[in-house]
Amino acid sequence: MTYREPIFELKHVSYRYRPHEPALLDINLSVKAGEKIVILGPNGAGKTTLEKILAGLLPAEGRFSAFGKPLTLKEIHNQNESAAYRRRVGAVFQQIEFRVVCASVLDEIMFGPLKNGLDREEAKARTEQVLDFCNIRRLVHRLPQNISGGEKKMVAIAAMLAENPEVMIFDEPTNDLDLENQKWLVTALNQLGDAGKTVITATHVLETARELADRVWIIGDNHRLIADGGVELLSDGRILDEAGIQR
Ligand SMILES: Nc1ncnc2c1ncn2[C@@H]1O[C@H](COP(=O)(O)OP(=O)(O)O)[C@@H](O)[C@H]1O
Ligand SMILES: [Mg+2]
Repeated sequence: MTYREPIFELKHVSYRYRPHEPALLDINLSVKAGEKIVILGPNGAGKTTLEKILAGLLPAEGRFSAFGKPLTLKEIHNQNESAAYRRRVGAVFQQIEFRVVCASVLDEIMFGPLKNGLDREEAKARTEQVLDFCNIRRLVHRLPQNISGGEKKMVAIAAMLAENPEVMIFDEPTNDLDLENQKWLVTALNQLGDAGKTVITATHVLETARELADRVWIIGDNHRLIADGGVELLSDGRILDEAGIQR
């Protein structure tokens, strides 16, 4: 087995939106390229906060390094550095914000590849690929603001995939999706993992964690990491109870 450096390293990472109210406390973790990780925890545990730190959107207290370099407020606020970071680390959060105002779903998906320097033909080819992969060809001429919540989620996922980042972060991705799309999503994320992507998914649903994880981080309602390990954690009643996860 070849030794690989971690792509993410968190040492004593905490985050507070307000003083004295930690959203995340003293997290120590590292991630290697190609890992498929599920962050499991009850509502309010800090999953989204942790994903925002990994996505380079929130400055962590403690030490967070990505791709061998510390990521601090300075890098997050630097437009070029944060754009470069986002090319490597894509994320789909629950609140979907489209980037192209008043354009079609097609333009929305093509925006990322074009911004990243692909020419129109390459961007179109990439977009065609994800339209098929995500099964959303029927939406291409629609206005992104006029589609349903579940459709928006699918378009946001497609837009992220079109940029083809090496790390893909999903926040409660099955929310808003109907049963068919939930099944699709599980298959798709597992395929991306098999293709070598680093896939990190936050969920409060034990069943979703079971379907998606090679490795599990369990965060409790005390905002601390309760466990980091393999899927066997998902059948450890003591740990699930300690974290406040319904089963
Ligand atoms: N923008 C915010 N301002 C203040 N507090 C927040 C904000 N976002 C989240 N929090 C708080 O931080 C804690 C962790 O939230 P979050 O990371 O969203 O949890 P999860 O994703 O596990 O449900 C919660 O107590 C939540 O109320
Ligand atoms: Mg959340």
